[in-house]
Amino acid sequence: MATIAPTPPAIQRPQVRREPSAYDALKAHFESHPEERLHHPHKWDVSRSDIYAEDRWQPVFAEMRAAGPLHWIPESPFGPYWAVVGHKAIQHIEALPELFSSSWEHGGITILNRLTEEEAAAAGIDAPRELPMFIAMDRPQHTGQRRTVAPKFTPSAMTDMEAEIRARTGEVLDRLPRGEVFDWVDTVSIELTTGMLAILFGFPWEDRRLLTFWSDWSGDTELATVRELDEMRWGILQEMAAYFQSLWIERTMDSEPGNDLISMMIHSQAMNQMRPEEFMGNLILLIVGGNDTTRNTMSGIIHALDRFPDQRKLYEERPDLIPNAVQEILRMQVPLAHMRRTCTQDTEVFGQQIKAGDKVVLWYISANRDEEVFENADTLDITRENARRHLAFGYGIHRCVGARLAELQLRVLLEEMHKRRMRVHVAGDVERVRANFVHGFRKLEVEITTF
Ligand code: HEM
Repeated sequence: MATIAPTPPAIQRPQVRREPSAYDALKAHFESHPEERLHHPHKWDVSRSDIYAEDRWQPVFAEMRAAGPLHWIPESPFGPYWAVVGHKAIQHIEALPELFSSSWEHGGITILNRLTEEEAAAAGIDAPRELPMFIAMDRPQHTGQRRTVAPKFTPSAMTDMEAEIRARTGEVLDRLPRGEVFDWVDTVSIELTTGMLAILFGFPWEDRRLLTFWSDWSGDTELATVRELDEMRWGILQEMAAYFQSLWIERTMDSEPGNDLISMMIHSQAMNQMRPEEFMGNLILLIVGGNDTTRNTMSGIIHALDRFPDQRKLYEERPDLIPNAVQEILRMQVPLAHMRRTCTQDTEVFGQQIKAGDKVVLWYISANRDEEVFENADTLDITRENARRHLAFGYGIHRCVGARLAELQLRVLLEEMHKRRMRVHVAGDVERVRANFVHGFRKLEVEITTF
């Protein structure tokens, strides 16, 4: 396998204080109930990561959608939850952010529960500490903090970044090996996503792989033991914080404010009301939020075009279809399988009674295959008229703030591949992420020919 990306610089991991995480409670649960580790009794419990790793989630969700837009799942390794599987129902819930909260105080944004004080005490550890991030805040805090970064993602800001993203994309494609099998994930998807984030932050180019390293703790939860993951997570947070702090100090001393995201945040009005840990939390949110997601779509593009050769041919003949192809691939890939909300007061949704405190999991991965909205939903169709209605970026006040940047990077990738008449075939191992949140590829072995 050829690897173009440089090895990350050696990292001195700081000694960190051991902090508890919700994983500890989950691990303790599995240790006392080993029979639940692999097989859960409820056939509609879509929290099982094996169905994503083995790419067999489609029939389970199809069955659930056929039975209704949302279902109560009374038992799972993550506790009971509502599985919302219909497109309309997800939009309905996301349009009511006061009734369906994203905040940490209520439980956060993924199916994994935040450890309660009682659970932490029972497990013999301190209460968990979380960095504040606006994705896990409700209004009005959410509005103010989102505003500090949103101007960096306007259409005109995208135009400013396009030339650099295009040049970097071209460099990576021009270095790809020919007549040789290599891993697209590491060589292209990770390298391009990292480069895109480095451009966004004005991050030192030679250190860019640190961004990948820092964000990777969040994805594949079965890569390491719970304790290793937890220790790594807090070590990495401290290391990131120290690095960004030095960048922050440098940028504060610049006489002319730069065009990068960090400079923009420092000089924004809302920054005055932000605590240092909020600034740090939001930087981390942008790195982590933009990383796995864009990366997995870049791998998804190759996988989808290879699985549907008629659509690959169409893309090769009709480059004008590229913007719509990007939407259609986002619809099919869905890099984040779900987001979670917590109900704040008793209510009714599509005939189901939801109680205050209930966990409500929005399965975008299912909504994007909803037969009521997308005809032949399991088929890639780059001419699909309503491809843009996908929910891969979510919906409502929390809809992905980086969506335009991701779309730009994905469009540029397809355009630059097209310019080089590059056809990429899956030619070896395909390994998927074993997780119910991040949905994508750990490895995708490919070979390049031309068309
Ligand atoms: C929020 C997906 C790329 C930054 C979200 C949400 C989703 C999502 C599903 C949550 C929406 C909700 O709760 O309703 C994606 C996908 C991407 C992508 C599929 C790529 C294909 C990016 C990039 C960035 C980014 C490139 C920035 C560099 C964020 C932030 C939020 C967010 C900051 C929080 C928004 C808020 O709470 O207001 N994204 N994202 N994302 N994303 Fe993305």
